[in-house]
Amino acid sequence: LTSVRQLFREKEQFAGQKVTVGGWVRSNRDSKNFGFLVVNDGTFFEPLQVVYAADKLDNYTDIAKIGVGAAVIVTGTIVETPGAKQLFEMQADEVVVEGACGPDYPLQKKRHSFEYLRTIAHLRPRTNTFQAVFRVRSLIAYAIHQFFQERDFVYVHTPLITGSDCEGAGEMFQVTTLDLNNVPKNEDGTVDYTQDFFCKPTNLTVSGQLNGETYAMAFKNIYTFGPTFRAENSNTTRHAAEFWMIEPEIAFADLKDDMVLAESMLKYIIRYVLEHAPEEMNFFNSFVDKGLLERLNHVLNSDFGHVTYTEAIKILEEHNDEFDYKVYWGCDLQTEHERYLTEKVFKRPVFVTDYPKEIKAFYMKLNEDGKTVAAMDCLVPGIGEIIGGSQREDSLELLEQRMDELGLNKEDYGFYLDLRKYGSASHAGFGLGFERCVMYLTGMGNIRDVIPFPRTVKNCEL
Ligand code: 4AD
Ligand code: MG
Repeated sequence: LTSVRQLFREKEQFAGQKVTVGGWVRSNRDSKNFGFLVVNDGTFFEPLQVVYAADKLDNYTDIAKIGVGAAVIVTGTIVETPGAKQLFEMQADEVVVEGACGPDYPLQKKRHSFEYLRTIAHLRPRTNTFQAVFRVRSLIAYAIHQFFQERDFVYVHTPLITGSDCEGAGEMFQVTTLDLNNVPKNEDGTVDYTQDFFCKPTNLTVSGQLNGETYAMAFKNIYTFGPTFRAENSNTTRHAAEFWMIEPEIAFADLKDDMVLAESMLKYIIRYVLEHAPEEMNFFNSFVDKGLLERLNHVLNSDFGHVTYTEAIKILEEHNDEFDYKVYWGCDLQTEHERYLTEKVFKRPVFVTDYPKEIKAFYMKLNEDGKTVAAMDCLVPGIGEIIGGSQREDSLELLEQRMDELGLNKEDYGFYLDLRKYGSASHAGFGLGFERCVMYLTGMGNIRDVIPFPRTVKNCEL
């Protein structure tokens, strides 16, 4: 079979040639003597138009009845049609129906709302929007691997089941083989984990960072790219319970190096996708987010903004009357504040740095002021936080002190403390939320529409 992508990319070569294509029918309309079958085979954003004629095909009346959604194999000659909407079409010699599709097919030829399409997550990849989203998602993943591999980063597969809570936010899905209807208890009433599979409480990972750091202390530069899980009770357009994260970790590096890496990675991805998916990106720009291409091109041609948390609070405090949640030094930034900074103040991606230690994770390096940590969040228009990262605390003493302050059990983090005992090196890293990155590049407004089968609060279909 020839793919529709090949036909479009190598048009000249196929003109006048006979080819066979398999795909799904997007529309079918016929008049008395000839008809048009529009077929999409999933390899290219544009579909193939197939013309079938009564005098050439003895099953003409059957073809005219083929329903939208049917799987067909068509054979015919590629003919250039200059001046027409499509540059070429296929004149069919043969049309074979592999799988018919009845009139109850949920994707008839009209615009369906994203809400409706979420209810048929198994069929929505056959629509234009989701064809574009998931091809671009695939390209972004590839671009990310290419970016890190070109720079000699080692791809590390960190575990999904773990005994630790990297972010210390307690938003974990527990993993257990205990019978929930009959949990074994110790004499003092606590759960008896000796009967559980791992003999201790375990959970799905919220981040691969701690394991990633151990490999950075051996390979210098590494990255992870895998699923992470958060039982965050946030029912928003930006939060999923299962999402993918990219977490590079670099040794002999500080917060500045970390931000340089993050900025060049994002620019690399944008450039890659604009170059490799022009049809999809034009589609998003026309039908999903009108300013998308202009915005992304602007990002490529400018430096990201930089502001400290303390400066950002000063700027935001002047606009407190515009916010639902009023800011003050020490508060965590909400989406409305993040978006204000990146959309209204900087009008481009911006790094906010040096947050109060109280609102950040235990592993971040304490700044000299003793109050803030060497953290950075990267905020982008339309979304807010897309990346969170930091320089890591490399002093054993300060790290232990911080863990004591937070009441963390140091025995659980023995391996992590060892890294500070045996050849501790300055290091930094960040986590890029993959779905938020896909949203940013496509202009899609809801995280549920950029992951094939979304898991969110009260929703785990398919
Ligand atoms: O800021 P976070 O929590 O940082 C970490 O997990 C660090 N361990 C990363 C590191 O330094 N190696 O999460 C990183 C990013 C966020 O900026 C956001 O883009 C994304 O992960 N993220 C989510 N994406 C979708 N749904 C959720 N519930 C998310 N929580 C975080
Ligand atoms: Mg964060």
